[in-house]
Amino acid sequence: MEPQTKSALPGRAAAAHGSDRSHRSERSDCSESVGSTQIERFLEENPGYRETAIFDDLRAREFSRLDHQRHVYLDYTGGGLYTETQVRQHGEFLLTHVLGNPHSSNPSSLDTTNRVESCRRRILEFFNASPDEYCVIFTANASHALKLVGESYPFEAGDQFLLTFDNHNSVNGIREFPRAHGARTTYIPIVPPDMQVDEARIGEYLERARPGGHNLFAFPAQSNFSGVLHPLEWIEEAQAKGWDVLVDAAAFVPTNRLDLGAWHPDYVALSFYKMFGYPTGVGALIARWQALEKLHRPWFAGGTISVASVQADRHYLAPGAQAFEDGTLDYSNIPAVELGLDFLDSLGYDRIQARLKPLTGWMIEQLLAMEHSNGSRLIRLYGPSGLERRGATLAVNFVGADGEIIDQDEVQERANQRNISIRTGCFCNPGAGEVALEISKRELTACFRSSPERMSYDDFRDCVQGKGSGAVRVSLGIASNFADVEAFVELAKSFIAA
Ligand SMILES: Cc1ncc(COP(=O)(O)O)c(C=O)c1O
Repeated sequence: MEPQTKSALPGRAAAAHGSDRSHRSERSDCSESVGSTQIERFLEENPGYRETAIFDDLRAREFSRLDHQRHVYLDYTGGGLYTETQVRQHGEFLLTHVLGNPHSSNPSSLDTTNRVESCRRRILEFFNASPDEYCVIFTANASHALKLVGESYPFEAGDQFLLTFDNHNSVNGIREFPRAHGARTTYIPIVPPDMQVDEARIGEYLERARPGGHNLFAFPAQSNFSGVLHPLEWIEEAQAKGWDVLVDAAAFVPTNRLDLGAWHPDYVALSFYKMFGYPTGVGALIARWQALEKLHRPWFAGGTISVASVQADRHYLAPGAQAFEDGTLDYSNIPAVELGLDFLDSLGYDRIQARLKPLTGWMIEQLLAMEHSNGSRLIRLYGPSGLERRGATLAVNFVGADGEIIDQDEVQERANQRNISIRTGCFCNPGAGEVALEISKRELTACFRSSPERMSYDDFRDCVQGKGSGAVRVSLGIASNFADVEAFVELAKSFIAA
């Protein structure tokens, strides 16, 4: 069941965004621009896709800039796209309210405080999180939320930080805090080509929690590299074995429902622009109250204390979330988060999945079928080749007829020429890249030894004999349609050697 739509802002986003089924049409999004046999085959294989015509209407109404500019946007894991309604409604809101800094106590400030508190409640409601169990800390983005946990977690000598290989660098970077306190960091391997953790081994790693110590386990609910969906069942299993669990939900929540009534991670990090494009600059750490108590802030700032004294050289932290919100919140943008959540609720994750799964499946099928004239495969896919345990993000490399990987920069350039937005490189996820490209620890260590200070990405890539840790990433989202997928398929075809 999807959560109920609520809005505290002018106009209800749900209605404005077309939850009204009378807008539905049976028109196919691709009839104008894609070869009819392809779409016919696609629809034959995926009859349920016709039921998602609401997204075609949405695309025409809310994302028309894509088609007006002939832009194929395939980087939703980089950033989601906002609807026109979100921007208009937020603009209207700003033009009709007097918002003051919430640290004051005047009428404009009190209004802002109410908006911010309303948004906190809405976020909890969206994720079905009980206010008795969870609180929302506003951050600048997911990285900031992750850093708050890392810097405040009470690592001591002998404690442990455990994480999967395929984390974003903003999770990898947490390892510098345990290192500074003499605690140990351990990575759980992922196994190519599926890029999943060997289920038989996860229990073994989780058994290693230090009794009575501080043990932090982090994993991405969806890998931003391979699109792999890691089992949320790990949360309870890890907690039962003595771990505090940090779920990086940044790449997961744009297209998957995170139900914090069903799953109870200690800490969840996310960025709202990845979910619905606007506003940028606002993320959240959603933390269990009891897990929050475990964190010790290494400093204080304006807004995070109830009392601080210069002469007495003491301070008292403010209670709860406030102790973690340094300085002034992005209070003019925070109300726009409610609009975005209303928009997602108006669609519902079930419908988003019904739209994106067939498109993802089709794209995988098309790409994996491509062969050079010598019979060798064009595409190397990193991640599951089926739809089980994967999201709508694909990481691939293009392989030439000679068996060599085609430089990702060449793919990027050709995509740019066609006005297709994809992502190339390692997507800030070096562990997954190293596994995908089979770069050994020995090779990597040798490169780091060769230049102890700094090295550019290109020099490092040369050092590991051109392997880099790069790939090509295509990620789908709410405005995606069949024509977008076909544009990428056609781009791929252009690399087939005759
Ligand atoms: C899985 C994951 N975690 C964390 C981040 C960091 O997000 P941000 O750059 O918004 O802080 C990203 C960004 O791509 C991500 O995909």
